[in-house]
Amino acid sequence: MAVDVILGLQWGDEGKGKIVDYLAEKYDIVARFQGGPNAGHTLKFDGKKFVLHTVPSGIFRERLINVIGNGVVIDPITLEKEIKNLDDAEVNYDGRLLVSRKAHLILPTHRFIDAASEAAKGKEKIGSTLKGIGPTYMDKTGRNGLRVGDVVAHDFKAKYEKLKAKHLGLARLYPDFEFDLEAEEQKWFSSLEVLKKLPMIDGEYYLNDAIKSGKKILAEGAQGSMLDIDFGTYPFVTSSNTVTAGVCNGLGIAPSKIGEVIGITKAYCTRVGSGPFPTELNDETGEFLRQQGGEFGATTGRPRRCGWIDIPQLKYTIMLNGVTQLVVTKIDILNEFESISVGENYIYNGEESDQLPYDICTIEVTPVYKAYKGWMSSLDGVTDFDALPNEAKDYVHLLEQKLQVPITMVSTGPERSKLILKEKTALAY
Ligand code: GDP
Ligand code: IMO
Ligand code: MG
Repeated sequence: MAVDVILGLQWGDEGKGKIVDYLAEKYDIVARFQGGPNAGHTLKFDGKKFVLHTVPSGIFRERLINVIGNGVVIDPITLEKEIKNLDDAEVNYDGRLLVSRKAHLILPTHRFIDAASEAAKGKEKIGSTLKGIGPTYMDKTGRNGLRVGDVVAHDFKAKYEKLKAKHLGLARLYPDFEFDLEAEEQKWFSSLEVLKKLPMIDGEYYLNDAIKSGKKILAEGAQGSMLDIDFGTYPFVTSSNTVTAGVCNGLGIAPSKIGEVIGITKAYCTRVGSGPFPTELNDETGEFLRQQGGEFGATTGRPRRCGWIDIPQLKYTIMLNGVTQLVVTKIDILNEFESISVGENYIYNGEESDQLPYDICTIEVTPVYKAYKGWMSSLDGVTDFDALPNEAKDYVHLLEQKLQVPITMVSTGPERSKLILKEKTALAY
């Protein structure tokens, strides 16, 4: 069986958690392949709401195995909190939540350096979630990191102290920054005991054996392609490969094993943190989108920047990911817009283009908009694509035509049930 992939095509928060949760029951395994507690994936069903940061979004489907892959960075403190939420909700995750030995650990001092480095950057800050993501991936590529498999080693504490000492040395490069290291360390070591109780696996063998035995795997991305370390709006990005290629590195799966690539986009666009955002609306329309969409971060609570959908940006990420089908989420947020604009092209350096410029962070990129008539009605209770108002159908068809990828699902609300299957999908079911 091939591995299907779900990932975000914008700057994160596209509704990945909801779609993974919905589709998960058709699979045997959901596996997170990158990112860490910077992610916040919201799931709503049966009147309940959960926000997951490290735990894959298949955890609420009873029979499913959930794998935290080697490409993920784990903060045991966040993981413990997530597990406590599962306990409180009486979710049985026994033997269903597995962790790759090769996943890297976020130490308290990684968070310390993240925060000190961001504070020192002042106005130029990335707008990091301050979860220690950048410093942890730095230690991974710098070959200094600690991995989940290390926690059972007899000399783990010594390795920890060595890395901590390095971090404290680094911290001296930054202006003084308040951080209660002792308290955070205490929490960290206590949370590590919770992590140790989860089954540790050699994820690459586990998943490849699963593929061989015909199991269906869904790879769950975090962040969005525009935050990819290589292809995003660098340096305003996260520190991992958020694109499909990241599935191979982050789970140990060969490119030839990738099946469907399901790209998720909101019906408009948001970004949280600093960096370029060509179709951003710094006016009352943007504010209206934020209020209608409840656009406040699931991890940090920060207001998200809002704007219209951006066709060149989506064409770029569809290309990078090899997207085979699209999901449009939050279309209901446009219910009360008389007119909906679409960024169809860019103008920069005096010319029109549909490509993202290398220097997108420093030059002015002006979108060329076209306005379309809104539907001005509620989509509540609509479960059939043909029953959507004509303008909503036209909007979906327009996106399909511009992006040249079939839209297989349209999401009309945060709940699991609020999803229109537009056409038969070529997924594992
Ligand atoms: P993720 O990080 O990609 O999983 O997305 P987030 O959970 O950070 O943000 C998406 C937000 O939109 C969450 O609050 C979801 O509950 C909500 N959501 C997802 N799909 C829809 C939808 O179709 N309509 C509405 N109104 N909300 C949605
Ligand atoms: P999900 O999975 C939206 C953004 C941060 C910041 C930049 C770098 O919920 O879509 P980092 O903490 O990684 O060093 O931050 O990336 N960012 C996200 N934005 N959704 C996310 O995850 C994000 N994870 C990181 O706001 O701009
Ligand atoms: Mg999110």
